[in-house]
Amino acid sequence: MIRNFTFFVPVKLVFGEGKLEAAGEEAKAYGKKALVVTTGDFFIKTGLVDRLKAILKKSGVEAFHYWDVSPNPLNTEIDAAAAFAKKNGCELCIGLGGGSAIDTAKAAAIVLGHGRPIWDFCTGATAAPITAKTLPIIAITTTAGTGSEGTQWSVITNKAVKEKPGIGSDHTFAKVAIVDPELMVSMPPRTTASTGFDALAHSIEAYTSTLSTPITDLYCEQAIRLIGKYLRRAVKDGADKEARNGMAYANTLAGFSIAVGIVTVCHGLAHSVGGIANTTHGECLAAMTPQTMRFSMRGNPDKFKNIGMFLRDEPANLGQDRLEDSVREVERLIADAGLANGLGKQGVKESDIEAIADGVIRYMGGSIAIDPMNPGKKDLVEILKKSM
Ligand SMILES: [Fe+2]
Repeated sequence: MIRNFTFFVPVKLVFGEGKLEAAGEEAKAYGKKALVVTTGDFFIKTGLVDRLKAILKKSGVEAFHYWDVSPNPLNTEIDAAAAFAKKNGCELCIGLGGGSAIDTAKAAAIVLGHGRPIWDFCTGATAAPITAKTLPIIAITTTAGTGSEGTQWSVITNKAVKEKPGIGSDHTFAKVAIVDPELMVSMPPRTTASTGFDALAHSIEAYTSTLSTPITDLYCEQAIRLIGKYLRRAVKDGADKEARNGMAYANTLAGFSIAVGIVTVCHGLAHSVGGIANTTHGECLAAMTPQTMRFSMRGNPDKFKNIGMFLRDEPANLGQDRLEDSVREVERLIADAGLANGLGKQGVKESDIEAIADGVIRYMGGSIAIDPMNPGKKDLVEILKKSM
């Protein structure tokens, strides 16, 4: 019997090669002046920013480009981006890039709509509510990983307090997500690998979360199958269009899934690690996913045993005990994608472990509450030690 659930993902998805061209027609419904956010000047050098500006201009939308944003966007950078947009009278926010650019666009839209600094919305139980005042957001993704174009989530780093919370509400979904696999062709192998692994972690966590639904289960299963089939190919040959297309679609499905099923212990840990060490999100997840799977699988064996079979694109439910097989299949993919680096190699110190575990409990408590094993501090410390 299907149990009760709610599914809410109000994103207009525009998917396919060449679909960047639709940006102007989509944007003009929301205003005549748009903030365009990228992280750094890479897309100035490649000409992508100019191309987007020209597309927007054709539809009567003027673009104001802001690019002084780090790969893990800081609250101070977000406030500065919003101030720049306010000065120029922007009515909508467009993120062009990976999760960091899209998250910055979302966060700037929150700041602009409410007239308050972003950290006011990041302080857990005392945070200001994120309302319908949030400006319209358009997400144009250039990576196949973070899923940010399909979610309400924006991840913000605050160096002063060493925290990296994810925030969002029903009002922070992108009005339009443009997923154009052509934009992903130039992504270097390492970024392809780490963002692709992020998409796999989203699929595994949303699939096994206590908030999973029959719809997100379908999405996650398909996403895991596609990642199993295409991630190695996309890392090996960035020009492999079929692989790029498959990864782009898998990432979109995984993104929609974490909008509803959310993420569990591994992402909770990765956020806390990211607040303390400047890790790459996908690489950090790759270091911890096998150990979090081994910990959480006892809470939902029926689902965890399917993951290895999905990755090999085999039929599910073979009726055998395939739990450890699922972990080993994930480990094989991590090795083949060149992501087999423990947390220690990523700058995390043994002496950080207590603080990382405390951080998960303090500001990522939701992620452990919906994990099938609902870990406590001792469990978190244990997972971190095994992931070093
Ligand atoms: Fe993620």
